[in-house]
Amino acid sequence: MSKKENLTSSEKRDSFTSKTGFILACIGSAVGLGNIWLFPYRVGQFGGAAFLIPYIIFIVLLGYTGLMGEFAFGRMSQTGPIGSFKMALETKDKKWGGFLGIIPVFGAFGIAVGYAVVVGWFIRFLVGFITGSAISSADSGAYFGQIAGPFGSTVWHLIALVAVTIVLTSGVSKGIEKMNKIMMPAFYVLFVVLVVKVLTLDGAVDGLKYMVFPEWSSLLSPKTWIYALGQAFFSLSLAGSGMIVYGSYLKRDVDIISSAKNTVIFDTLGAFLAGLIIIPAVFAFGLDPAAGPPLLFITIPSVFKLMPFGRLFGIIFFVSVLFASITSLMNLLEVPIEAVQSTFKLSRKLSVAIVVIAAFLIGLFVENGDVLGSWMDFVSIYIIPLGAFIAAVMFFWVIGIEKAKSEIECGSEKKLGKLFEISAKYVFVFLTIFVLIAGILLGGIG
Ligand code: TRP
Repeated sequence: MSKKENLTSSEKRDSFTSKTGFILACIGSAVGLGNIWLFPYRVGQFGGAAFLIPYIIFIVLLGYTGLMGEFAFGRMSQTGPIGSFKMALETKDKKWGGFLGIIPVFGAFGIAVGYAVVVGWFIRFLVGFITGSAISSADSGAYFGQIAGPFGSTVWHLIALVAVTIVLTSGVSKGIEKMNKIMMPAFYVLFVVLVVKVLTLDGAVDGLKYMVFPEWSSLLSPKTWIYALGQAFFSLSLAGSGMIVYGSYLKRDVDIISSAKNTVIFDTLGAFLAGLIIIPAVFAFGLDPAAGPPLLFITIPSVFKLMPFGRLFGIIFFVSVLFASITSLMNLLEVPIEAVQSTFKLSRKLSVAIVVIAAFLIGLFVENGDVLGSWMDFVSIYIIPLGAFIAAVMFFWVIGIEKAKSEIECGSEKKLGKLFEISAKYVFVFLTIFVLIAGILLGGIG
């Protein structure tokens, strides 16, 4: 179907109503489990502040190339990865682009399935801090063990999905944009409150030092750089999916260059604040900052147990991580929803229902913590970087760097130079392949 028919026959495409709304939605997508769960323990593993150096280098580089590319690709095609890849290959008279687009759609869906389970855990912990059960349980490990057992959190998982369903059925401007405008500013305010509280604890200074003074020697280890790269990729939601879809709801007068810049700045700030809460809090109570995934669900609840007014701060913590993760989940689910809606020309409501029900049913089998880990690893190692790679090739090579550049520049006063062309066409594409291979060899880096 040609683009013209598409526009006249289906309902008018929803869109973000303002640049701020778009940026907040992109920050909402970017700031999530990657920042809160993964980032602090990577910092713990790879030399504290030293990890920040490669992380900042990569996130700026990826923001300047891949992120702007995904926004512009979506805005150019006015649809998600399936339609975007199709449009790209049609310029070369090839018809199979749409099939390739299925890869990132499944990638986003796969991550969403696991994410919904974790959002359910957050709701469970929030309720646990409100009722006091998370504080009164003697053993935080056992408390979490029960929640993350097989079919251990079905009700909470369901609540998480019902909540996002309400937002997503309301559409892009009235649902996604509106919720991000509330939740993301609230997230930063609450996180700053927590940072202040944590830094006043006895012994927190050592943790703060750890976050601020680099252990230079860890920069000599290639692993520090590789994990920082994987972290930056996942954190910016670069997978040829979520950011293309949000870009597709963007008007042509919005400045993509400055939107990408803001997304990078606030995403990094979100990760840094999470580190400033978690690492010093863990140090203050003599716990292990490199505890890995249990850090968030076992170590941190123990911290709140020991802290004065811990119950209140536990509530604040879980409200804010809930906001951060639910706004990422919306983005992840929007990818398959948009795909179903535009491929099968179904109504918004029906598309949301199909995707959410499928995510719930599959998610039932990953409620078990161990299965969840393997599931998320599989999707994030193989499918996510592959999606980012294909999207980059489609946009910067198939559509071509000239057109890509002028789409990115459209709406902006800045012009992109030769440096952008080289960084996007060669460096970024190479990095997507590198992340795929390194992830396979090291068993997951993002
Ligand atoms: N960036 C998010 C995080 O750090 C995860 C995420 C949201 C994502 N939307 C995405 C990852 C789309 C890949 C693709 O938690």
